[in-house]
Amino acid sequence: MSTPSPIPAAAQAATAEHCGHGLVLTKVTDRRGSAVWKATGHKGTAALKVGRGDGADITAREAAALAALKTDYFVGGGVTHGAAWLLTDWLEGPSTWEVFAPVRTDGAGRERALASAADLCGAVAGLHSKGWVHADLQPSHGIHTATGVELIDLAWAWRPGWDQGDDFNGGMTHLLSPELAAAIVTGDKPVVVTPAAEIYALAGTIWTCATGTWPLDYKTAGIDPKASTPHELRRHIATGRIPVQAGRPWPDLQDVLLPVLLDDPTNRPTAEELGTTLGGV
Ligand SMILES: Nc1ncnc2c1ncn2[C@@H]1O[C@H](COP(=O)(O)OP(=O)(O)O)[C@@H](O)[C@H]1O
Ligand SMILES: [Mg+2]
Repeated sequence: MSTPSPIPAAAQAATAEHCGHGLVLTKVTDRRGSAVWKATGHKGTAALKVGRGDGADITAREAAALAALKTDYFVGGGVTHGAAWLLTDWLEGPSTWEVFAPVRTDGAGRERALASAADLCGAVAGLHSKGWVHADLQPSHGIHTATGVELIDLAWAWRPGWDQGDDFNGGMTHLLSPELAAAIVTGDKPVVVTPAAEIYALAGTIWTCATGTWPLDYKTAGIDPKASTPHELRRHIATGRIPVQAGRPWPDLQDVLLPVLLDDPTNRPTAEELGTTLGGV
């Protein structure tokens, strides 16, 4: 068995120690400088993330954020020979995107979807109450487990004073609030990610899960997002002049989210308030 492994020996050992014998590693994703494996052994199941090149610093920062936040599912991490690794307990359950799948197919499962959206708001509220922001909320970054929602991919999680790294671009471009897009366009660091900017991404995440499309209607604004660089797209978003998609497959829910996407940051609800409002839809 001399196949070179992209998994550092220390990460392999920690994973084996945590999951037990009969370890099986299955690759889940491999993109933008980091790869995630699902690791299963006789003692348990874990997620192993390994970052290399540009991904090494980012993965190391994620491990540090999980440790700083004392996140329950954090197991360990390290840096070795230019690679960084992060071991977490495998979170069993669908992502918010997956919970909303029946809603997108034929409008079914709305009650469960609403409760999940409210739970997601609760998880974000919990993070905000500690003085942190996730800074990369998106439909796949909330996992709905039997015991509640866990936020994953905290690579860009931030609080004032925390090392943000040089590459922070605001998280998922399509879910950038206009004011955060504007802040990134200036190039000034650190980029202050306010809870209000995160609420925009939170509402945009729920909107996307419910409708299947990102909130902004680029086409009507004459923008081809596929032909634009992320930087160009951020400049457009920063104008605040791209309309929100006109489709209303779930008006009652979208009526709650729309003002969050359109109003001034100062008028946006807190995550807790948004969760309460969604609970009453
Ligand atoms: N602790 C975990 N439990 C369950 N699934 C996970 C866990 N960590 C990562 N994943 C899975 O791996 C995917 C990629 O992880 P993520 O941290 O978002 O990495 P990336 O930086 O590539 O986006 C997630 O969308 C999820 O499906
Ligand atoms: Mg991710």
